[in-house]
Amino acid sequence: MLTGGFREVFYGGLRFYVFDDVYEPAEDTFLLAGNLDVCESDVVLDMGTGCGILAILSAFKASRVVAVDINSDAVKCAKENAKRNNVLTKIDFICGDLFSPLKEDSYFSLIIFNPPYLPSEKEPKTWLEYSWSGGVDGRSIIDRFLGELPKYMKHGGRLLMVQSSLSNIEKTIKILKESGFKVEIIREERMFFETIALIRAVKVKEKKRRQSSKLSDISIFDGLLKF
Ligand SMILES: C[S@@+](CC[C@H](N)C(=O)[O-])C[C@H]1O[C@@H](n2cnc3c(N)ncnc32)[C@H](O)[C@@H]1O
Repeated sequence: MLTGGFREVFYGGLRFYVFDDVYEPAEDTFLLAGNLDVCESDVVLDMGTGCGILAILSAFKASRVVAVDINSDAVKCAKENAKRNNVLTKIDFICGDLFSPLKEDSYFSLIIFNPPYLPSEKEPKTWLEYSWSGGVDGRSIIDRFLGELPKYMKHGGRLLMVQSSLSNIEKTIKILKESGFKVEIIREERMFFETIALIRAVKVKEKKRRQSSKLSDISIFDGLLKF
């Protein structure tokens, strides 16, 4: 029995709770959801999971999913939705700031992110503001995420990320290319004031790092999480 306030969202014949302080899946979510190319062998990271919709859709196919959000209500909501959709045992939910709860040698084969990307002069105060506010240039979370990304991505691994034209998509592409990724925009959706792009990047060059362990052989808590 859920006690707090919530709405419900329907997608692909599935039902998801969206708790009051949690981002309600929108066009950017559905752009990602409709283009998830998950394989059975994938170990997926859903960064900023919100109500968990992308983690849950991935979990139907992937071997393992880790879902992270800074908002503890989002993590609770995502867990509830995973239970509701019978994939709770395939997903590890973690409350934390970007990659900080993960070990540096956690090699994911697919990382998904619908980041907060809208420019805003004000510091976010509520959880809902955290879900869309990307600081003055819209890039505060995106740039931190891109800086850490290569350390957590397996060679040949893919990133699927949405971003608005309001927060400099070209800069994202440049950073990804400089970090050893092959980048393409696979979908674009024009809205009133912005275009939302779906970026797909494949890691093709490895910077110097330790040898990867085979993720499918490791218990997720031993292998990926710091705590
Ligand atoms: C645009 S919403 C996307 C939610 C969900 N993935 C979806 O597509 O509907 C962005 C999410 O990122 C989370 N977030 C914001 N800053 C974060 C951070 N520093 N670390 C982890 N998650 C963060 C927000 O709480 C929010 O749930």
